[in-house]
Amino acid sequence: MTNKLHQTKFWKNYHLYTKMVAKCSMRYTVDAYLYFTIMKKYQYKNILEIGFFEGQTCGLLLESSDAHITCIDPWPETKLFDQLYKDSQDRVDLHIIKSQDFNFKNYDFIIVDGDKDFEPVSQDLQQSINALDPAGMLLINEYQKPSVMQAIEEFVLPAKMVPFLKSDQTLFFHRLTVDRGDFLDFELPNLANNFIRFENIESWGHTILNAHTLPIFSDRLDFFDLALKEFDL
Ligand SMILES: C[S@@+](CC[C@H](N)C(=O)[O-])C[C@H]1O[C@@H](n2cnc3c(N)ncnc32)[C@H](O)[C@@H]1O
Repeated sequence: MTNKLHQTKFWKNYHLYTKMVAKCSMRYTVDAYLYFTIMKKYQYKNILEIGFFEGQTCGLLLESSDAHITCIDPWPETKLFDQLYKDSQDRVDLHIIKSQDFNFKNYDFIIVDGDKDFEPVSQDLQQSINALDPAGMLLINEYQKPSVMQAIEEFVLPAKMVPFLKSDQTLFFHRLTVDRGDFLDFELPNLANNFIRFENIESWGHTILNAHTLPIFSDRLDFFDLALKEFDL
């Protein structure tokens, strides 16, 4: 397990992954900080990731925990992942099928990042809620897309899942019985508030911590790198 985000293979090889927006790859810089910090804190053991692509997030999770990770993707690109993470492959099961054909088991941390059309994402979300441990976390990617937002409003909120954290790419949920107050109010913002802006927003009757970074930290990776090193995160 690696202690600091700036020391991970994930971050050192970040520039090699396919670009999405500006210089950011599949996992945006602010999201990477949140995922890494959450995994270090809660040490989830049994993760499901729907949508593996190049395995960038899977690698980050491997480096921040000793979890077992189940991934599903009918069209993965494994070359870079195989090079970087060959020593940890015993902790990963990659199923090369559609998530709609996958037999869900039980998980304590689920990332929904596969097909974003309304029907498949709705099915992924319903299966994920049924498969999530009581203390688990559900992470929904590209929640801004109308199809994903509609599925959240039809299937996630009525299942009494609570949105509690939001970043550029991910909306995070836990169950009603879980309290993450101290973590959200103090621990998470603590050091990173020098370059990530944290503010509470109200949505659907819930208070959600919104984590947002200035464009310079996604346009210029050397600036984000400097920030991580300066604050030793
Ligand atoms: C945004 S990428 C995933 C990125 C990855 N989660 C990461 O952070 O590194 C979306 C992936 O979903 C996969 N996908 C598309 N339809 C799918 C389905 N029905 N079931 C599972 N994965 C699917 C695509 O092949 C693509 O690789």
